[in-house]
Amino acid sequence: MALQPKNVGILAMEIYFPPTCIQQEVLEAHDGASKGKYTIGLGQDCMAFCTDVEDVISMSLTAVSSLLEKYGVDPKQIGRLEVGSETVLDKSKSIKTFLMPIFEKCGNTDIEGVDSTNACYGGTAALFNCVNWVESSSWDGRYGLVVCTDSAVYAEGPARPTGGAAAIAMLIGPNAPISFESKLRASHMAHAYDFYKPDLASEYPVVDGKLSQTCYLMALDSCYKSLCDKYEKLEGKRFSVSDVDYFVFHSPYNKLVQKSFARLLFNDFLRSASSINESAKEKLAPFASLTSDESYQSRDLEKASQQVAKPFYDSKVQPSTLVPKQVGNMYTASIYAAFASLIHNKHSTLAGQRVMLFSYGSGLSSSMFSVRLNEVQLPFNLSNIASVMNISEKLKFPPEKFVETMKVMEHRYGGKDFVTSKDCSVLAPGTYYLTEVDSKYRRFYSKKASENGTLANGH
Ligand code: ACO
Repeated sequence: MALQPKNVGILAMEIYFPPTCIQQEVLEAHDGASKGKYTIGLGQDCMAFCTDVEDVISMSLTAVSSLLEKYGVDPKQIGRLEVGSETVLDKSKSIKTFLMPIFEKCGNTDIEGVDSTNACYGGTAALFNCVNWVESSSWDGRYGLVVCTDSAVYAEGPARPTGGAAAIAMLIGPNAPISFESKLRASHMAHAYDFYKPDLASEYPVVDGKLSQTCYLMALDSCYKSLCDKYEKLEGKRFSVSDVDYFVFHSPYNKLVQKSFARLLFNDFLRSASSINESAKEKLAPFASLTSDESYQSRDLEKASQQVAKPFYDSKVQPSTLVPKQVGNMYTASIYAAFASLIHNKHSTLAGQRVMLFSYGSGLSSSMFSVRLNEVQLPFNLSNIASVMNISEKLKFPPEKFVETMKVMEHRYGGKDFVTSKDCSVLAPGTYYLTEVDSKYRRFYSKKASENGTLANGH
């Protein structure tokens, strides 16, 4: 790799989510919710979940080893490894250290980085750290590797259908097909109690659902305003949604993504930006004088702005909604699963396009940042990323027992001295799974034999 790196960003991606999943309409019936509440009301189709043999560590082992194998990257070529997660299995030992056996067995222990945590934002912090490292004077010419891994589970109640689970691994380096426009980045950080996990004996968060929705939209507005200001200072012209080809949002559930994008159009209207035509102006004019607090509560504004946004939404947002609708909220992995969906759906036409991402983590931290998509040589081109992720194949779920599994997991959370069912019949070959937690809380994993029959060592 050349020094003075250019076009630093994401070279390759791999996504893993458990093959165990519940249809949202089945969950609606089980929970006694009105028909359509989860599917239309929240906009979700399905929700993946971990059984007793999978967790955030096994999922990230699977995603990392699969990425390295499929791209033929020697583990010695990794110089920084950062993990974003809010699923706490150990208050001291980072998830990153559980991934180290992959590198240790190749003689590579010279790898910087640990875990970053702030709700769904930790993966973005990890990604910024890796990109900044490659752009810095500390860079030693090797790749960075970012892992976002979470199992999102909620107690019984209205939040339960907004769970999900996944791990995503991203290889970071120069001359990337997905490169950062580092000057186009804005953040909003504040103190809020919208979603948090103070009870360390439970995997479930304390969540104020309504407040979390408003915090998300306020953070979005603030990031978008700052980003527009920065762009206008740099380019000397006004910014609007028309300057972006695709938007990718952190997706707790699809309805919030629809509302969020509509909010950007309302911002454009308030700033008299070029995306707003005469008919849109007319529809939004009655809301021009609302205070910002009033604007978050107004159902009429929500409806009018969603109507104005609809044609833009279909072309600029909808292509990134596939995996989040099918798998659910994957916390740190959610925004990158949305990005993976865009690559899956549009890889052959993305070169030269600008994508704007919005990352939100309760508590709260958020950033909006821009990437450019570039045509580069194999193996790191966009079409190869799409084919390695193989999303269509992974979305073929066998039906599984969700509620019974949650009961087992509640009992197991934080536990020791047990062996799991070791039932990996539904897992794909090459997937890591949990086999045992011993009397000293040490966790042990095995890898399901690959298709060619090779067995990997457990860690
Ligand atoms: N058919 C169609 N739509 C329906 C039906 C039905 N039968 N029943 C209700 N709905 C609609 C409602 O009108 C509402 O739509 P709206 O948002 O357009 O008004 C939607 O379904 C949700 O219903 P509510 O009753 O408003 O909300 P609920 O009490 O079910 O809670 C919530 C939803 C707050 C998202 C909850 O699931 C939750 O707390 N989730 C976790 C927190 C979260 O994800 N926050 C987002 C940002 S923070 C983060 O990422 C964790």
